Amino acid sequence: MAISHTLRAIVEAASYYPSADNSQPLQFGISENAISIGCSEKRCSRESYFDCDSHAVAFSMGCAVESLLLVAKNLDTPCLVEPLQSGFLCTFPEIEGVDVGDETFTPVKMRHTNRGPYRKDALSDSLPEQLLDESEGAVSVSYYRTGMSTGLIQLIVKAASLRFRSPDLVKFLADSLRDGSDEVAQGDGLDIETLCLPPGGKGILSLSTSSRWLPSLNKLGFHRLLAAFEGMMLKQSAGLVVISGGTLVNDAVQAGQLSQRIWVMLNQAGCAVHPYYVVTDQLMRKRKGMVSSDLKSEVDVLEEAVKDVVGSESLHMVFRVGFPKRDVVRSRRLPLEEVYSKS
Ligand SMILES: Cc1cc2nc3c(=O)[nH]c(=O)nc-3n(C[C@H](O)[C@H](O)[C@H](O)COP(=O)(O)O)c2cc1C
Repeated sequence: MAISHTLRAIVEAASYYPSADNSQPLQFGISENAISIGCSEKRCSRESYFDCDSHAVAFSMGCAVESLLLVAKNLDTPCLVEPLQSGFLCTFPEIEGVDVGDETFTPVKMRHTNRGPYRKDALSDSLPEQLLDESEGAVSVSYYRTGMSTGLIQLIVKAASLRFRSPDLVKFLADSLRDGSDEVAQGDGLDIETLCLPPGGKGILSLSTSSRWLPSLNKLGFHRLLAAFEGMMLKQSAGLVVISGGTLVNDAVQAGQLSQRIWVMLNQAGCAVHPYYVVTDQLMRKRKGMVSSDLKSEVDVLEEAVKDVVGSESLHMVFRVGFPKRDVVRSRRLPLEEVYSKS
């Protein structure tokens, strides 16, 4: 296979990287024996909630870099990663003639989000131990079994209630949603079917993303009800995995790398994974001055509580993990031609 075909196949696998609300903010480039990863100005300059400098985009970039490293490991070929001014260049110096089979890409292509219910059975003892062994720079993994995670669940419930009172966040979610086969086929945004909503859930979702109804409903405590539902889902799991440490802003790429690695490990072990970014998002909003004045004191309290519960002010991501009760609809991706270019 010509190098460019091999690299194109590698980029195709990497394009399955996770991103907030499947916003797919990255652009790949292929040249000789290297793949570059950068933020897509086009996708992030639309009226985008997350810009190229955001923690969420840097996190996704880390996930994509880690995908390339995982593929290179499967191919038993080196992959050298160097930072660019904004992004990364991943060089495969010995890629020529390397035999690429479909199974090379299976682990990174099979990684996925599962928002459905999980069984509460504990993970096998060795799996949390394997996770805890992983780290990336100053970023590390912690594991809280169900029953030991009450403080963490309270943080997420609090942050979720703040989210439903933040009009710009509600708009971002509303704009991301895709319903119906034509919209979903574009491969852009959040297919409603991937949300695993319970019966009646679509109606509640449309109220919870309605700029018209939500403020009035919130006066009656609707945001608390929505947040309590998140808390209920979090209890339906084997446990919660926390990615934390380093500096929240500077270590986001490494947090993404570490997250991608353990996400792939968990999915390969038959374990389902559901990311919760809502606490981190509130912390980042505070740093960027995006919190409205009426919510500011509550976000301050949340930030202090994060330090107490997590033992670090840099909480990058929380994953609900467990054995899935059912398979889920997988998120689609943009056509490959839209996310990479050759130079
Ligand atoms: C930075 C980031 C934040 C995310 N936050 C959430 C979240 O709070 N809730 C959720 O259900 N999924 C969350 N996700 C998962 C994405 O929605 C998911 O990766 C995307 O829709 C693609 O689906 P896939 O992971 O199945 O490939 C997040 C992913 C990333 C990278």
